[in-house]
Formats: sequence, C-alpha cells, structure tokens
Amino acid sequence: MQHKVLILDFGSQFTQLIARRVRELNIYSEIHPYNSKKFNISDFGAVILSGSPHSVRSENPPKPDLSAIKGKIPLLGVCYGAQYLAHFFGGEVGSSNTREYGRANLSFVDNSDALFEGISEGSQVWMSHSDTILKLPSNYKKIASTEEVENAGFKIEGEKTYAIQFHPEVYHSTDGAKLIANFLVKIAELKQEWTPDSFAETTIKSLQKKIGNDKVVLGLSGGVDSTVSAILLDKAIGKNLHCIFVNNGLLRKNEFENVLKQYEGMGLNVKGVDTSARFLSELKGESDPEKKRKIIGRIFIEVFDDESHKIENVKWLAQGTIYPDVIESVSVTGGPSATIKSHHNVGGLPDFMKLKIVEPLRMIFKDEVRRVGKSLGIDAELLGRHPFPGPGLAIRILGDITEEKVRILQEVDAIFINGLKKWDLYNDVWQAGAMLLPVNSVGVMGDERTYEKCVALRAVESVDGMTADWVNLPYKFLQEISNKIINNVKGVNRVVYDISSKPPATIEWE
Ligand code: XMP
Repeated sequence: MQHKVLILDFGSQFTQLIARRVRELNIYSEIHPYNSKKFNISDFGAVILSGSPHSVRSENPPKPDLSAIKGKIPLLGVCYGAQYLAHFFGGEVGSSNTREYGRANLSFVDNSDALFEGISEGSQVWMSHSDTILKLPSNYKKIASTEEVENAGFKIEGEKTYAIQFHPEVYHSTDGAKLIANFLVKIAELKQEWTPDSFAETTIKSLQKKIGNDKVVLGLSGGVDSTVSAILLDKAIGKNLHCIFVNNGLLRKNEFENVLKQYEGMGLNVKGVDTSARFLSELKGESDPEKKRKIIGRIFIEVFDDESHKIENVKWLAQGTIYPDVIESVSVTGGPSATIKSHHNVGGLPDFMKLKIVEPLRMIFKDEVRRVGKSLGIDAELLGRHPFPGPGLAIRILGDITEEKVRILQEVDAIFINGLKKWDLYNDVWQAGAMLLPVNSVGVMGDERTYEKCVALRAVESVDGMTADWVNLPYKFLQEISNKIINNVKGVNRVVYDISSKPPATIEWE
C-alpha cells in the first residue's frame, strides 16, 4: 500500500494549506489539478478533494472522473469536494439562505465516528461557502451539522468516503488538523513516515541514481534553498558538484567573503566569482527598475554560462526550485496573472546552456526546506536568514546605481540588520532591509547645513512574500538605529520607516 495523499485541486485559495497540514502529519502529499492526467492513482493511499470558487450548479462546473477513486481508495471531500460528492451522486445542492463565512460549531449525529475521534461537540470550524447541500443521496449518512448547515459532514456507508462542508485545513478550524489526522491515520491507515530525515535519505539516493558519475553545476546565492540543494547534492555526488557563487557587487556588506567562507567550511566544492565591476559598469546611468532587473538577469546568466563552460563535461544544472513554484494552478479567471516585477532567478536559465535540470527541492515547501536543512546539520543562523532578492541592493537603490550609493546602502543595511540581531528582533521579522531614496534633504550637523540622502527602513512580517505587513518595531529601537545611521554613514542625514503593507505596496521599492 502507498502511504501518500493525492489532493485534487478545484482552485481553492486553501489547497496548499491542505497539503501542508498533511505533511505536518509526516505524510507525503501532492497537489494536482482535478482534471490532470499527469499522476498515477496507484501511487496514492488516500485522496482529498479541495474547495473551489466554482458552484456545482454553474454551467460548466469542474467534474473530475472519480471512477478509479470513489469506493476504492479512502476519499475526503472538502467544501466544493463535499458538494460535488452530494450533487452528482443523487443528492441536491442549492443556494443557501445565509451565505456562511467564518466560524460555526459542530454538533455530531454520531460522535463514535472515527473521523471525529478526540474532537468535542461544539468544536469550532471555519466555513466559506454560498451553496449548501439540501439533500444527501440515499446511501449517504449525515454525521455532523452546524446551526446553519444541516449536512456539515457525511459519509457513504460501506465505503471509506467522507465529506465535510467546512475547511479543516485553516487555522481557525480548531480541531481541523486532528480531523485530517483521523481521516488519514485511523480511516485510511496511512503510516506517518515522511520526515525531513527520510526525505533527505531518499532524495540523496535518488539523486545518486539519476546523476550517476555526471558533473553538476549549481549557482549558490547565500539563501536557504540553494544552500540546502547544494548540501543534498554534495552528500549524493561529492566533488562532482561544482558550485558557483557570483558577486554582482550588489550583495550586503562583506556578504560575499563571509558566505563563501561559510560554504567552504561546509566542505562544498565552491568557486567564488567576483564580477562586481562588470555589473556596476553595465548598470551605469540606468534608472528604470525593469531595465535594471533585466540587465542584472542577463549578466548573471552570461557569467554563469562562462563559468559552467570552464567545468569540463558538465551535464546537469541544479536549481533550488521549491514546490509552490511548480504546483500547477487551476486558473479561476481563465487568464494569466499580471507581471508585477520580473524575478530574474525564477524560471531557470535559457536553453542555450543545454544542460539537464535537477531540482532536489521541487516537491517541498519553504518551511520543509528549513527542516530538511536542519536535519542535514546546516547552521541555524544560515537557515534562518531573511530572504534577499536576486538583483540585490540594485532594487533598493532607487534610480541609477553608483559605487558610492552601494557603499552607503551597505553601511545602512548592516547597522539595521545588526541592530535587529542585537535587540533579538531578527527572528520576529520575515524580511528587513534599507532603501536609498533619490531624495536629498536639508539637515544641520554641527552648525553646518547639510544637503544629503534619505534612507527608508523596511521590516515586514509575511508567510510567503505574497502579502506582507509592516512590523511594529519598538520606537526605542528605531531611535537607536536612526541615530547610529546618521552619525556613522557619511552622505545620509535623514531616516524614515516604511509603514505600507503589501498590497497595495510591494516589499522591495523597485
Ligand atoms: P516584492 O517586492 O515583489 O517581493 O513584494 C516579494 C519577495 O520577493 C523578493 N524579490 C525577489 N527575489 N529575485 C528574487 O529572488 C527577484 O528578482 C526579486 N524581486 C523581489 C523580495 O525580496 C521579497 O522577498
């Protein structure tokens, strides 16, 4: 029997959360669009149907073929998944009188049902639906209700098929994780054996099998994803892994030297390439944000390509791609989403490199990358580093870039980041940095008039960078940092703190 879970996605905003809740139980899960043909059902020991912005009563609702699943493999329908199981199997779904969003409390028809083991009557669940199940098919059995929703939970007699109208995957469903565990462990009898250690062990073995004696090239960035990818590959193929760490001259203060040293200390076969001068010279005079990003992306690829050609007979390119980058999404609007910024290190390198791609982290989430990193013995400080954008300080220096501006921003950034560490605030913040504004303002220092630069500090809390809010840093802290910056960084006479959320702002200013 396979101990993996298939999540069929109908386009719900919560689908990734279902996958993560399952994995938190140490059970592997994969998300596939409801109409995908790219998976093999015999690889899975249980199936979960996600919610959806669609209605089963709409003209063309998502209609998966469940003939290989229902009644054969344990199946749990969530929200739309539940309505689908009712509506197309002899029941009836209609518009609910009250649109139910937010909290509700469960009452059980039969509290001895395995799905509710350890969950108390009245347990809070989270609802988000406008349709409701009016009538269940005749062989279905109601197992739970809420005040507004008669058929909040049901099962099919003689099958391991269950369905619930609420969302167990969201944090506000108090016993949601317990319910998912009951379904997967008690009902589907899956083993909880997918751990960071087991992931590392099987990944290393499969990398060895896939790559054999070939050589692999990997671009290190100092970030968590590329570092964990490199260590997995290093354990798999040792010196056949060639890492390249490019200094684009836009890194944090002393970062190139420090991180390179750290990598060498970890035993990685790494080459540091300092091409700062080339980046700065090609960026000279350019102040358009998108053009700056494009220039940096292009030079990075050229440098990386040059360096890879120096490695004789290299066959593979390793990338730190993670699961959210590859999950095929079910389009709700039918169109592609707008490009806000061109992220240069997403999407891989161009075809002319003609290398085969290997992505050791392709199937795991960011928090799992950190857990795998920990189990591989990677330094906690390195694993806890804030994300840093590929184009580096270039997108935090508004307008054109000069060596002097980079120096100023590196100094300011170092004071800010070291301050956060000293005040024990670094780990409470998801990402922090400083922006150099194209603004001079008048100041007074030692009775002299100054006309110097203004910097903005930014610290945000976020889960995935998609949305973010500014952090309420203590005034005392901001006061100390502002004083330190103005007293120590020549060329700056004013500091401001950015209090914009994303959306409508973005995290980086360019
Ligand atoms: P924005 O500014 O779009 O940033 O709110 C969201 C997150 O993405 C990072 N970022 C980048 N990361 N290459 C990257 O690797 C890029 O070109 C890039 N641009 C923005 C940003 O630092 C934040 O974490």
